[in-house]
Amino acid sequence: MFQVLISDPLSEEGIKPLLEIDDLKITIDTNLSPEELEEKIKDYDALLVRSQTQVTRNMIQNAKKLKIIGRAGVGVDNIDLEAATEHGIIVVNAPNGNTNSAAEHTIAMMMAISRNIPQAYYALKNHRWDRKKYVGVELRDKTLGIIGLGRIGTEVASRAKGQRMNVIAYDPFLTKEKAEKMGIAYGTFEEVIKQADFITVHIPLLKETRHIINAEAFEKMKQGVYIINCARGGIIDEDALYDAILSKKVKGAALDVFEEEPFFDHKLLELPEVVATPHLGASTIEAQESVAIDVSYDVIRYLHGDVVRNPVNLPSVSKEIMQRIEPYFFLAEKLGTFLIDLTKEVAEEIHLSYSGELYDMEVTPLTRNAVKGILKKHLGTSVNDVNALYLAKGISINENKTPKQKGFTNLITLTVKTKSYQRKVSGTLLNGLGPRIVKVDDYSVDVTPKGHMVVIEHIDQPGVIGRMGSLLGKHDINIATMQVDRSDIGGEAMMVLTIDRHLDAKAVEELKQLNEIKDVVAIDL
Ligand code: NAD
Ligand code: MLT
Repeated sequence: MFQVLISDPLSEEGIKPLLEIDDLKITIDTNLSPEELEEKIKDYDALLVRSQTQVTRNMIQNAKKLKIIGRAGVGVDNIDLEAATEHGIIVVNAPNGNTNSAAEHTIAMMMAISRNIPQAYYALKNHRWDRKKYVGVELRDKTLGIIGLGRIGTEVASRAKGQRMNVIAYDPFLTKEKAEKMGIAYGTFEEVIKQADFITVHIPLLKETRHIINAEAFEKMKQGVYIINCARGGIIDEDALYDAILSKKVKGAALDVFEEEPFFDHKLLELPEVVATPHLGASTIEAQESVAIDVSYDVIRYLHGDVVRNPVNLPSVSKEIMQRIEPYFFLAEKLGTFLIDLTKEVAEEIHLSYSGELYDMEVTPLTRNAVKGILKKHLGTSVNDVNALYLAKGISINENKTPKQKGFTNLITLTVKTKSYQRKVSGTLLNGLGPRIVKVDDYSVDVTPKGHMVVIEHIDQPGVIGRMGSLLGKHDINIATMQVDRSDIGGEAMMVLTIDRHLDAKAVEELKQLNEIKDVVAIDL
């Protein structure tokens, strides 16, 4: 039974998929203090949050059973991603479910400040009929500057065009051609903030984007510009905004998000030019249901060993691509374990070569599996898909692909360089027969990478195989399969045996004492 904790209010409709699964026990507790959560999380396999719960490193360190954190929304700035990755905990989000709501809210906020709707409403509620005071401006023919043209920025752009606004946008991934196709202008960050009458930000809060709208940026803007932030508090420097409003540089600001949330007293709210909502961009019935459904299904998928749709700390691979590469996962991991057993030393460099039909496939997940196989030897089950590449950060890892078929329709060759030497192993997936190890260093073999094995390096001399067989017999070890290859007659040779049980250290040592035997390694896959 998997224990799932929901620590922020999520849509009841949206979490129904979780409630319907027999092997999940769902606990909803949305009033936990950070200390209580840190204690409670120990017992849970999955945690679902919105933006309120702060998933800190301390909490993650305590979460010994935790496998997945589901964020019902886009921004993951409330989750310590690095700590989650280090601990092998996958983080998933729901990037699409609230795009529409956030874009609509942005337009609503822009209209609210352009026509002073909240201020006028407030005055009227307080029995003041202030027609003269609340003269607004039209949006038509004004320029909307968009910083960040991702999902929400793009939706805002198309709606703003409906208001007959001119749109200019900056996004590192936006090209002039793409902008032209969308019927908007392309600009640098500086061009956008200089030309716009209204500026709206739709970027994530990162180290690089914190206070991207600061005093220097306000300085460059048009006199009387309007600012909208429905993305994240912290993108705009609130002190600088405050000063820019007082100096009349900024005529109005519409804010849905703040540097600290929640708050109950904020100096920006004292300014009549500021219109604000308490982080409501995604607060619609539709968006909340949709994001909760999306994360619920990803949590179910992950706990049941299936591929998730929206991983944040793992590259996302489409279902179609996954179906093609998944059969190679086992092979890649076993090649890693086989080779690290053989080298007996810590890997310093890892190289993966993919050939034949693997050429046009996305192979990073295979590299990750090979690295996982290598690291498992030293780190055990704490290594998984999420943290394998992170934990290998001191090791140089590279891969190359070639369409050439090296005798096999597909071939993965893993080379590991250690302090003292370099070794390699190749494997293939045989149609209908499954995975095979087909080469160890330069010796050709044909072995299923599974179970107990022994690799014996020896000199090609009569009687070696017999002596080795008798010794294994003496230890009551049954040989299941045997592969032998040699460099040349009487030269160096290799035997790869599959055996029915683990070969212990004593038997390994005795084998090593036999004439013509150079090295013996027991491998358990
Ligand atoms: P997205 O990932 O689709 O788009 C973000 C875009 O920002 C990307 O295209 C990226 O290239 C661009 N970008 C990154 N750094 C940039 C920079 N320095 N300058 C310009 N562009 C940059 O994300 P999205 O779904 O559109 O969400 C945008 C923001 O809105 C996020 O911060 C998200 O958390 C927030 N959000 C808020 C609410 C709300 O309730 N107020 C709701 C949903 C999303
Ligand atoms: C998000 O990033 O998805 C928004 O902030 C919405 C939310 O947290 O509800």
